[in-house]
Amino acid sequence: MAFPTAWLDELYAKNEIVSVISSYVELKPKGRKLWACCPLHGEKTPSFSVSPDKQLFYCFGCHAGGTVVQFIMDMERLTYPEAIRYLADRVGMEMPHEVNDREMQLLRAHKNRLYEANKAAARFYFECFLDPERGKPGREYAQKRGLSKEIIQRFGIGYAPEGWDNLKNHLTAKGFTNKELLDAGLLVHNENKHTDYDAYRGRMIFPILGTNGQVLGFGARVLNNDKPKYINTGDTPIYNKRNNLYGLYLHKNEKLSDLVMVEGYMDVIGLYKTGVTNAVASLGTALTQQQARLLKRYVSTVYIAYDGDAAGQNATVRGLDILSAEGLEVRVITFPDNLDPDEYVQVYGKDGFDRLKENALSLNEFKVRSMANGVDLNDENARERFAVKACAFVAGLLPIEQERYYKIIAQMTGYSVEALEAQGARSGGIVLRDSESKFLRGGIRRRIDTMEDPRFLTERTLLAACVRDPSALRLAIREGADRLIQNEALSALLTEMQKDPAFSLTQYVGALEQKDAETVSALLQEENSMQNPERAAADCIRRLREAEGQQDIESLQKRLTDPGLTPEEKAELLKKITDQIKAKK
Ligand code: GTP
Ligand code: MN
Repeated sequence: MAFPTAWLDELYAKNEIVSVISSYVELKPKGRKLWACCPLHGEKTPSFSVSPDKQLFYCFGCHAGGTVVQFIMDMERLTYPEAIRYLADRVGMEMPHEVNDREMQLLRAHKNRLYEANKAAARFYFECFLDPERGKPGREYAQKRGLSKEIIQRFGIGYAPEGWDNLKNHLTAKGFTNKELLDAGLLVHNENKHTDYDAYRGRMIFPILGTNGQVLGFGARVLNNDKPKYINTGDTPIYNKRNNLYGLYLHKNEKLSDLVMVEGYMDVIGLYKTGVTNAVASLGTALTQQQARLLKRYVSTVYIAYDGDAAGQNATVRGLDILSAEGLEVRVITFPDNLDPDEYVQVYGKDGFDRLKENALSLNEFKVRSMANGVDLNDENARERFAVKACAFVAGLLPIEQERYYKIIAQMTGYSVEALEAQGARSGGIVLRDSESKFLRGGIRRRIDTMEDPRFLTERTLLAACVRDPSALRLAIREGADRLIQNEALSALLTEMQKDPAFSLTQYVGALEQKDAETVSALLQEENSMQNPERAAADCIRRLREAEGQQDIESLQKRLTDPGLTPEEKAELLKKITDQIKAKK
């Protein structure tokens, strides 16, 4: 999303980075920067730095970095446009497209009313639950399900009493119109009787909160075995189940190592009760891409822990592909005896769950094993068919992974690993679907890769010198340094600085994707150590040239090993190599 430059200028100016970050951590000055323990990852010694003159932050520990907007995206788990809005709200600036847009204003006001209505409804249901008379059935059911007072409070669970207009009367008295309540999904319209009535009656209420802390909708469960078991808020102007995950808001300001995906409200709550506090549910839909992206803002590893029944297992397979396509590392927890997570922890407790989690299957092992679902492995023909299919799948994996899976197939079928490998080799490997190959590549963290590459470090130092000192920049331009830089984010930065005399690093970084913003913000690392930027730049350029030369030599040497070379070609190559080596001295 593009915002007008002048408007962004004002936004950055009003949201001075030090004052924004100071509301999260106490910053202490040292050198040209301010320091704190990183609020984005847990640590005991400060490696989080803020540069007031550049208006950028950078953490030496977790390598997060960027402008105040990127800080808010990381800290508040917001998307770029959301973070912009957050900062605009913070300083009372109107969003640019809203300034004269009456329709937008009305829509926003209407949405705010729906948020208000939902909040009042959640409070009403909660109070009904506690009401000595009205709340009795709800409290009895809660007790039956083992929900303590703390859990009721933590999840804001309530009770909608029997009757057609309890909520309607309560909220009408508070000034909400029928249209507002219908739009929020709190009332239902009856066409024949021309009347509106409460959507939830005689049900336990599970408010669904967004990561913005607002009540977006509700899930409502019967107290017995009637159907439908749950009624959930449908699509409304403020809620779409495809974009949200139940329970995620609890983790807004936490650093998590992983999340556990479950199917139901009661699974999230049941796990929480036993101490597994990091479960979220997909709200009665198959997992969506939007939900996968949401998860990715919080963690890089997700455990799928769907019900042990067939429906749950099928949903697991689909969920795996969706998550891995977004680059998440996925593991699968399977429950014995058709149990769902809530039931499982009631029997085996947190320890039992932790054990299952430790033994969770990788994506590929799960796929191999689920190929055998419904296959009778005691039947020779069926066993053979399974082995052929599974070997073809394994043959398509990375070579270093294959051995492990052949062993698993061997153990499942009784065939020898050698026979299975031969079978796999014959099949030539099935082609990986795009999502799968992306998943495999996603396992390698590009950020760490580039961090440790000495060439990248040299390129970064060169750019730091250019950012620091105009004469270093002029030198770099003169020496044609843009052709030497391989890292795309850094080379784009140099090109931009070269082009634009009024170059602003803050604005530039603010417009970058997260990864690139981090790469560029890492320039702050060099800031203190650089005494003479111009000399540092010259030094880096020399080293980059040398590295380039070395690469040339290596590729010439490789060509030399070609057995098809004629003696003349060989002699010519050798001369080239000697020349290059001499030129280096
Ligand atoms: P309990 O049976 O109370 O333990 O609930 P649960 O959370 O284990 O639910 P279950 O595994 O039966 O279903 C998983 C999720 O699917 C629920 O949390 C709901 O979001 C959704 N769901 C279940 N039943 C219905 C239904 O009848 N209608 C709709 N719309 N959604 C349902
Ligand atoms: Mn259940």
